[in-house]
Amino acid sequence: MSMAIQSICCIGAGYVGGPTMAVIADRCPHIQVTVVDLNAARIAAWNDPDLGGLPVYEPGLDAVVGRCRGRNLHFSTAVDAAIAQADMVFLSVNTPTKTRGIGAGQASDLRWIEASARQVAAAAQGHTIVVEKSTLPVRTAAVIKTILGAAEGETPSGRKSFAVLSNPEFLAEGTAISDLEAPDRVLIGGEEPAAIEALASIYQQWVPTERILRTNVWSSELSKLTANSFLAQRISSINSIAALCEATGADVREVARAIGADSRIGPKFLKAGPGFGGSCFQKDILNLVYLCRHYGLDDVAAYWESVVSLNSWQQHRISTKVVQNLFGTVTGKRIAVLGFAFKADTNDTRETPAIRICADLLEEGAQLAIFDPKVSTQQMALDLGQPPQHPPGGNALSGEGVWQVAPSPEAAVRGADAVLVLTEWQQFTTLDWPALAVLMRQPAWLFDARAICDAHGARAAGLKVWRVGEG
Ligand code: UDX
Ligand code: ADP
Repeated sequence: MSMAIQSICCIGAGYVGGPTMAVIADRCPHIQVTVVDLNAARIAAWNDPDLGGLPVYEPGLDAVVGRCRGRNLHFSTAVDAAIAQADMVFLSVNTPTKTRGIGAGQASDLRWIEASARQVAAAAQGHTIVVEKSTLPVRTAAVIKTILGAAEGETPSGRKSFAVLSNPEFLAEGTAISDLEAPDRVLIGGEEPAAIEALASIYQQWVPTERILRTNVWSSELSKLTANSFLAQRISSINSIAALCEATGADVREVARAIGADSRIGPKFLKAGPGFGGSCFQKDILNLVYLCRHYGLDDVAAYWESVVSLNSWQQHRISTKVVQNLFGTVTGKRIAVLGFAFKADTNDTRETPAIRICADLLEEGAQLAIFDPKVSTQQMALDLGQPPQHPPGGNALSGEGVWQVAPSPEAAVRGADAVLVLTEWQQFTTLDWPALAVLMRQPAWLFDARAICDAHGARAAGLKVWRVGEG
């Protein structure tokens, strides 16, 4: 007999916690779901009655939240109260790569996970199932279990006990809602059958039984890192071949189609581009690398590390292409950058290739005009480490790299020597090249790092065109 869950608390109202809990609340109207966060502004945005202000942009999310909010989906800053009421607590806090100390640059920073585990230990009542949702290094469940274990036992309000499960999220940003509503699989790792079945019974409300996989807790944690590392490896593989295509006259899209037709390889995740970004891929591979080193598997560590180095190489390769083709200098030149998010249909910029590529161009003294339909100016300023600034009048060749936001692609390209497309937003596939080309300073270039633009149209409009992977 599994325990029937009536009340869920999710700690962390971010990209993972928000959409995941919205879909659980939608599919399980009998369960009260409360998403809590320390960040009051974020909670206020989730509670925004106009829905326009949700802190996470995700197609379809506003409809799901609109159906459930106030019914059985609640957003709150009262963390302890929500934990105390819950039969099940999801941990969806941020786990970025450590920037200092032991394992800096590779290991995940677990301070937020540990803090929330301690908070659960203190505030929980009765039996509570704690579910790791954030991507975590393997064996984190043991740490959480130890912290919770210290709080177990008799209390004035009855016996306190915990079970810990690993339930990694596999949602991709931009398709989070469909990934959650129709997942390829749901993975539940744990030791206690009753806890596993309690969580499985939630997913069974909408996920076919055969797609709910049960494993031990270490396999579950490691599967998440491995899945993301394999996906990232495919991108580095195709990007490496893109460079070879450019050198040999092959076309990477034709190569991808040809190899993707092999059912053993499959067609997905074979798009060459400016390199992978997002909060997961690099972090998860680096975690894997750290883990391998820890266990003395240095060759295995080096193997996976090369996936990340190839990715950085690809990003620098693109900025270098721009500089080389613009006669070896971009100082004082205006370059339109179309797209800043790490992929289309998200406002997330974590690890976006745009950061490194723009930083390279700013270092070379370029004047960037950036257009992205979803990323805010404040976010770009944080990512680029300098505020937006108008290009210096008069002495444009002074050499200082500056950037500003453009309200439209047209505004971005006005007076520019080049357009650089970094994100595959749908609207960039239908740009009117004859209309844009006349606004630019000739000779002008289109650098299409996603190979999504109408290259034929751009060439016909008189632009020189570079497309990733086209020889
Ligand atoms: C990823 C995983 O897909 C998801 O399962 C996991 O839980 C979280 O990490 P996400 O980072 O949201 O999801 O995006 P994803 O669609 O995987 O793309 C990651 C990066 O790879 C993006 O920068 C994207 O542009 C790039 N990419 C993807 C390519 O360059 N080529 C491709 O063919 C696919
Ligand atoms: P992810 O992509 O993993 O969802 P985010 O950074 O978008 O990551 O969201 C994580 C959220 O977790 C943040 O909004 C942060 O404020 C919140 N958070 C971190 N630690 C705690 C904590 N101890 N209690 C409540 N919320 C927390």
